[in-house]
Amino acid sequence: MKALLDSLKPEDRDWDLATSIDPDRLPAHIAIIMDGNGRWARRRALPRVAGHRAGVGPVRSTVETCARLGIDCLTLFAFSVENWKRPKAEVEALWRLLRYYLKRELPELQRNGVRLQAIGRVEELPERVREELQEVIGRTAANRGLRVYLAINYGGRSEIADAVNAILEGARTEGRLASLRIDEDAISRHLYAPDCRDPDLLIRTSGEMRISNFLLWQIAYSEFYVTETLWPDFTRTDLLQAIVAYQQRDRRYGGLSQEPARESEAPDTVADEDLIAAAGVSIR
Ligand code: FPP
Repeated sequence: MKALLDSLKPEDRDWDLATSIDPDRLPAHIAIIMDGNGRWARRRALPRVAGHRAGVGPVRSTVETCARLGIDCLTLFAFSVENWKRPKAEVEALWRLLRYYLKRELPELQRNGVRLQAIGRVEELPERVREELQEVIGRTAANRGLRVYLAINYGGRSEIADAVNAILEGARTEGRLASLRIDEDAISRHLYAPDCRDPDLLIRTSGEMRISNFLLWQIAYSEFYVTETLWPDFTRTDLLQAIVAYQQRDRRYGGLSQEPARESEAPDTVADEDLIAAAGVSIR
């Protein structure tokens, strides 16, 4: 947080927003569905690929702002297992853009102490993309700042299926298949990024109210924030606004609010007989 404030001056546009953020309640993990590149291009009568190209800048600025804020993990949905259905030229352009980003951003990632990682069926990516991705993952592995997970050839359902298969495979090799019981903890430990806590804040750009097969297991209790901004227009201001909105939420995880009860409120202890009477049931 300090690094972000140090990079701003009181007269800057984002100063008030940044100073309104509580540094003690930052989301540890932010996940983003970067959507709206195609619409951004169409509004300008440009090819869809131009929208993807314009989406690289916001990736760079979002990574930088999260690093400066001191966020632990940022997961960016860059390519889904379903995106192969797009025209071949668009898919290839996305690989070129990813390679361009990796090559160009490495010095910046190093400067910001960012550790880059990938989640998804990375083994199915074109060889050069895979190699260049592994290169950057290796070169940034010792960094101790923000962890950026690029979700590439990623699907939430495939991730869960892959986790279950990995558990089965482990049990088979160790001869424990007959007594195997799979619980939630086992699945969590076999996801693509088991060391990263579940996202606190999930942002989706371009106004769509869909999850699109993203982090299905991990978002059970994430706070969802949807902005109308199209991804190529997503700025530091949008990110800070999402964090401010997140800090106004009351996260209950299925329990009750952490706020202390007001004195005027009746206590929560009610005798069984009163509950039954209130429900209109008689005891025989
Ligand atoms: C969704 O917009 C976006 C994608 C499928 C690709 C995301 C890629 C980038 C932001 C490019 C840069 C990424 C990296 C990691 C360097 P869409 O095409 O579905 O938009 P639409 O819904 O308006 O058609």
